[in-house]
Amino acid sequence: MCGIVGYIGTNDTKDVLLNGLEKLEYRGYDSAGIATLNGEGLHLSKVKGRIATLREKVDKGIETKLGIGHTRWATHGEPSEDNAHPHQSVSGRFTLVHNGVIENYYELRDQYLTEVNLVSETDTEIVVQLMDLFYKETNNVLTAFRKTMSLLKGSYAIALIDAEDQDVIYVAKSKSPLLVGLGEGFNLVASDAMATLKETDTYLEIEDKEVVLVKRQEVQIQKFDGTEVVRAPYKAEIDASDTEKGTYDHFMLKEIDEQPFVIRKIIQEYQDEQDNIKVDGNIRAAMLDADRIYIIAAGTSYNAGLVGKQVIENIAGTPVEVHIASEFSYNMPLLSKKPLFIFISQSGETADSRAVLVKTKSLGHPSITVTNVPGSTLSREADYTLHLYAGPEIAVASTKAYTAQIAVLTILAVDTATEKGIKLNFDPLQELGIVASVMESLTDQKERFAKLAKEFFTGMRNAFFIGRSTDYFVVQEASLKLKEISYIQAEGFAGGELKHGTIALIEDGTPVIAISTQENVNYSIRGNVQEVSARGANTCVVSMEGLEQESDNIVLPRVHPLLTPLVSVVPMQLLAYYAALHRDCDVDKPRNLAKSVTVE
Ligand code: F6R
Repeated sequence: MCGIVGYIGTNDTKDVLLNGLEKLEYRGYDSAGIATLNGEGLHLSKVKGRIATLREKVDKGIETKLGIGHTRWATHGEPSEDNAHPHQSVSGRFTLVHNGVIENYYELRDQYLTEVNLVSETDTEIVVQLMDLFYKETNNVLTAFRKTMSLLKGSYAIALIDAEDQDVIYVAKSKSPLLVGLGEGFNLVASDAMATLKETDTYLEIEDKEVVLVKRQEVQIQKFDGTEVVRAPYKAEIDASDTEKGTYDHFMLKEIDEQPFVIRKIIQEYQDEQDNIKVDGNIRAAMLDADRIYIIAAGTSYNAGLVGKQVIENIAGTPVEVHIASEFSYNMPLLSKKPLFIFISQSGETADSRAVLVKTKSLGHPSITVTNVPGSTLSREADYTLHLYAGPEIAVASTKAYTAQIAVLTILAVDTATEKGIKLNFDPLQELGIVASVMESLTDQKERFAKLAKEFFTGMRNAFFIGRSTDYFVVQEASLKLKEISYIQAEGFAGGELKHGTIALIEDGTPVIAISTQENVNYSIRGNVQEVSARGANTCVVSMEGLEQESDNIVLPRVHPLLTPLVSVVPMQLLAYYAALHRDCDVDKPRNLAKSVTVE
């Protein structure tokens, strides 16, 4: 959470910083700021609100060749101009931006800064005030920076500038992501390569507990003890156009539409020349060795994990448990003799999942990260990575990552089954191909879903989604999608549970959306629809060819019963999108949320 950009070069800084921050808004968007430096001194602009507001405030007349910027998702202290980054030291000499959480900031404040008048409520300001203090002690900026960094506990990515030196940005990180971008006569700092793809496609990784001096013509990496580190740069594999909306009004709709292509890409990437599924040999061995799989994830990725459990158990015959990452350490299950941990994370940065990975690693258990961002923290720290190949997902509400996660877990299950000698009665790649075509037929019907969203959700404060068996997993994702972007309170329930309490909430006109794609529960879920209908609910039934009834609102073309979540979720994503649009909500950047949740 929070995004950082820094630039040092020969061109003016403002646009690089502001454009970069706009690309990082998915990481948080409640306040923002930039600090730039030239011969006349430091220029600081901060706002409560989005980058567009910051853009209006920044003085267009000032030219600078060095600067740092920040977009914030508040952790310590409310969103306000005082709490917005960059933060400045009392002397005015040092200015910095920070992403992460300094866990020992009270201790540091009480030990070193009792005499300093702090102006913000943030943990970050402690860091910049320490710089002042240690600079006074050592008279050397680098030594002061090193000393400050070595005292910090928790997570941080930091970029600092010195008002008396226009030739360097000081950079360090621990647990939070930060990269250095390399150019001709300029260099950059960014939380995510996406922010600076317009300027460069060449990047240097920074490792935890290193200090990096980013200058115009060179980048020096040192360990905390001063030892120089030499590291080769790499090319970012993201196409800059993938990070643009193109002709779409919102990234979310673009990403919903991209799902058929993503499924086809996954088929292509995990297929060998003989058209068989291929998975990395180490991952295959880990799957075969495991007597039980523990899936760990949060939010939409957790919902994908629920479907993944069913797919892996049915296809590969390995028992699977799915755990909410943030709950795992409090309710840690008794582990089997040979556990394998699978972390599902679009961003690969979710702090709750990482905390579990750190713990399970310390216990010596093997791990796989299923992610859209190879090279992310969870990807680097797990033993193996399975790539989602979904392309950058920028809308805060996850759509294409969910379907990609289910598709990749299906591929993994099939690979394991094949190695175990289990004969499948279907061709998985062909079935995934059918899924892609069905997705396309659904995304082609946008007007219909826009109309249904208007009919069911206009003026509504709450809504219920019901399903049984596989469909129960999808209604949990459907309700998350609706609530997070339209702010309609929505819950997903197992159809059979309704009459054990929840049915008390049904009133005249309450929207209840039922999904029915499974033959063995078709009769029962329709019984639940009758029960809520009899109590005044406005019901919408989504069924599948072969199971449909005349009154059904949406009938999905038939796909393999294990893969129905990949298609039944698409109308749910579109209903949520149009419901939010009809209510004038900020679809891509819903209130209070951030795309990667890097704090526990
Ligand atoms: C909801 C959503 C979140 C994420 C969750 C985990 O639309 O996007 O619930 O799924 O924050 O994020 P990742 O998958 O990056 O670990």
